[in-house]
Amino acid sequence: MPRLKLGVMGSGTGSNYRAIQDAITEGRLNAEVRLVLSDNSGAGILALAKARGVPTLHIPPGRFKTKLEPEIEAAYARALLDAGAEWVVLAGYMRVVKAPLLEAFPGRILNIHPSLLPLFPGLAAWSQALAAGVPETGCTVHLVDAGVDTGPILAQRKVPVLAGDSPETLHARIQTAEHDLFWRVLADLATGGDGRVPQA
Ligand code: GRF
Repeated sequence: MPRLKLGVMGSGTGSNYRAIQDAITEGRLNAEVRLVLSDNSGAGILALAKARGVPTLHIPPGRFKTKLEPEIEAAYARALLDAGAEWVVLAGYMRVVKAPLLEAFPGRILNIHPSLLPLFPGLAAWSQALAAGVPETGCTVHLVDAGVDTGPILAQRKVPVLAGDSPETLHARIQTAEHDLFWRVLADLATGGDGRVPQA
């Protein structure tokens, strides 16, 4: 099978990107990251990619907070296509994806979300889980559609909510699960699977 050609988009720290890149380097994932693209010039994800010699690009997001202007989103899509990306991985990308990207990569955009969707879509899902008092939460990798955290679910990992958890401790536990899940979904796709990885 040819290597999976990935474009990664992120706005923040980039720990999920790092886990994916490590899986590639260590031979667990037959893929290559063709471009890391960010709306945030100071994002850790850009620094991580640069340190690994992976091409990076920052395209300023324009005037909206929660989405890109359509012409700017078209430039994102062009940059990813020009780089040879066949799949787009949202690794902490904090804006809603609209038509220009969805149409450029139909059914080929993946997102990781820090809850067991359909529970707790949107921001700070770990805080939502704490506030709801659920005994467990987790993370979800799903295909991206035009909604917010609504696309078809590919894989999930559960984590317990423990007595005394703060938003930070719960988020950290979820992130550990994220780092073990995203590359497995990609590795399944890379070997011709549909990305549906069973619960561990
Ligand atoms: C993750 O918790 C992910 O679920 C959410 O954004 C966060 C990104 O973290 N979509 P990082 O930048 O990968 O460290």
